[in-house]
Amino acid sequence: MGQSTSVLFVCLGNICRSPTAEAVFKQKAADAGLKLVIDSAGTHGYHIGKAPDKRSQAAGVARGYSFKGLKCRRVDESDFEKFDYILAMDDSNLSNLRGMSPSQYQDKIKLFLDFASVEDKEVPDPYYGGKRGFELVLDLIEEASDGLITHIQQS
Ligand code: 4NP
Repeated sequence: MGQSTSVLFVCLGNICRSPTAEAVFKQKAADAGLKLVIDSAGTHGYHIGKAPDKRSQAAGVARGYSFKGLKCRRVDESDFEKFDYILAMDDSNLSNLRGMSPSQYQDKIKLFLDFASVEDKEVPDPYYGGKRGFELVLDLIEEASDGLITHIQQS
């Protein structure tokens, strides 16, 4: 048996989209009987040490996901070596990650919604919007999580 497959979800602030992805994917991986290392981080450091946004938590908890213990952190140089999948929420996160990563790890960096059958591959930033944005984030993340689980099971 090798080491566990590891997945890092990345957004801008690490308080809305990527912690939601971490919470949803942890639940779905556990339901599928997969033992994975799952974490999230932000490309920027506005909210380091803080819990996920209350609106993200409320929307996610209403669908049965747990945000317990999640704390905002910034993407670190060591993440590129450590994680097998480094999954960006939008194109801006993707290009920031590509700019930060050593060349040998570039292939690990992808858009999370590459694993969802949706046309627009970005999870829209819900931070400055209303409740519907947080529901959309969850819809997209649930679909991509199912796709990623199938992908990991097949590889
Ligand atoms: P996130 O959302 O990238 O999904 O965590 C944001 C959170 C905070 C800010 C922007 C986006 N901010 O500007 O503080």
